[in-house]
Amino acid sequence: NVTFLPSEEGSGKGAALITAIDKYLYSMRFSDETLLDIMHRFRRELAKGLGRDTNPTAALKMLPTFVRSIPDGSEKGDFIALDLGGSNFRILRVRVSHEKKQTVQMESQIYDTPEDIIHGSGTRLFDHVAECLGDFMEKHSIKDKKLPVGFTFSFPCQQTKLDEGYLITWTKRFKASGVEGMDVVKLLNKAIKKRGDYNADIMAVVNDTVGTMMTCGFDDQRCEVGIIIGTGTNACYMEELRHIDLVEGDEGRMCVNTEWGAFGDDGRLEDIRTEFDREIDRGSLNPGKQLFEKMVSGMYMGELVRLILVKMAREGLLFEGRITPELLTKGKFETKHVSAIEKSKEGLSKAKEILTRLGVEPSADDCIAVQHVCTIVSFRSANLIAATLAGILTRLKENKGVSRLRTTVGIDGSLYKMHPQYARRLHKTVRRLVPDSDVRFLLSESGSGKGAAMVTAVAYRLADQSRQ
Ligand code: GLC
Repeated sequence: NVTFLPSEEGSGKGAALITAIDKYLYSMRFSDETLLDIMHRFRRELAKGLGRDTNPTAALKMLPTFVRSIPDGSEKGDFIALDLGGSNFRILRVRVSHEKKQTVQMESQIYDTPEDIIHGSGTRLFDHVAECLGDFMEKHSIKDKKLPVGFTFSFPCQQTKLDEGYLITWTKRFKASGVEGMDVVKLLNKAIKKRGDYNADIMAVVNDTVGTMMTCGFDDQRCEVGIIIGTGTNACYMEELRHIDLVEGDEGRMCVNTEWGAFGDDGRLEDIRTEFDREIDRGSLNPGKQLFEKMVSGMYMGELVRLILVKMAREGLLFEGRITPELLTKGKFETKHVSAIEKSKEGLSKAKEILTRLGVEPSADDCIAVQHVCTIVSFRSANLIAATLAGILTRLKENKGVSRLRTTVGIDGSLYKMHPQYARRLHKTVRRLVPDSDVRFLLSESGSGKGAAMVTAVAYRLADQSRQ
């Protein structure tokens, strides 16, 4: 099921080249049997993370989110949403009105988060967030209002209620000091108070997966899974409360943030990790952690391809053995290049352009070979995510006790959105792995910020009811 373009120099030679690369990267290509095996492993890890006694040692943290339902359509109001931790730091104003039909109006702005801020002190990071929020409120002339704020914070957080989130550990590109173990709502409140030029009422902190599920849930009531395939990767879904040992109560459901990026951190994926995956991990900000994420997500995919190209060039299989300083530079080959090279029409000319910039003087065959390497690496990613998603879907199916599952999965993330073939491959594999299901994949057009505002709106509605 791996497709490729025939060689310009005659398909005989091109096909032989493809076969050679297929053999070379054999350990990155999975049969459905292997994918089903990974799905079953993931199911066991899910259960382990949910159990009271097994949770402390489980790789999957299965974090309760205190979000109990998707929007019911009666929410209204004027909200601010902060979205920190994805490829952009974004602030949004979301107005939900309720005439005949619920409508949502949004305005947003992207702010910079420079490297020295995300790797500096936590105080500086939150001062920066508070400053951007002040700027946003100023521009919207709402500095005198105390609007409810929803905070999408795309990192693992321990919660015992909606408006509290203790950061367990930084992931992806972030590593500001003094934040791990702290409540990010408190840190942000402190930074806002210190300024003293405006007020804000942070009502909810939500993971981006939860924001995505809620955004999609607004359009499709059947949405009960949220996935991110971007810089990082993760998923949340609606679990039966009676199965969540860490939360009191047995009635109804609650959204659980799986933090599936950490799948394999206890050694469960060692048999499918390659030398390239190990090298990526060694050079990362968090060695030994987020091992699944490092095999699949956008922050690492370009680098994985680069490492493979370096090895192949060293062995004389590419670029007639030419190795340039650019090719040897970490980060020089990005995931957006993988996406460009896999475009069906201009992919090969993009490959030529990108490789030429790396100074390796690629031949036509080199371009075909590199395109095929990209295909194998991105296909592996889609396949692995299909396997873990299939694990969640079969769990939902069992929870519901139905013979055929009908459900909607909300998805967001730069890799999923920008890569020309990714979505189609993912959908196809999921449908193969869970044949007895009708799964609708819904792209979250407006990102997870709208979802954070919806969570806030629900919290606001409930708080309002309890005040009355
Ligand atoms: C990382 C974070 C997780 C987030 C995901 C996608 O895996 O740990 O919380 O949802 O990236 O942004």
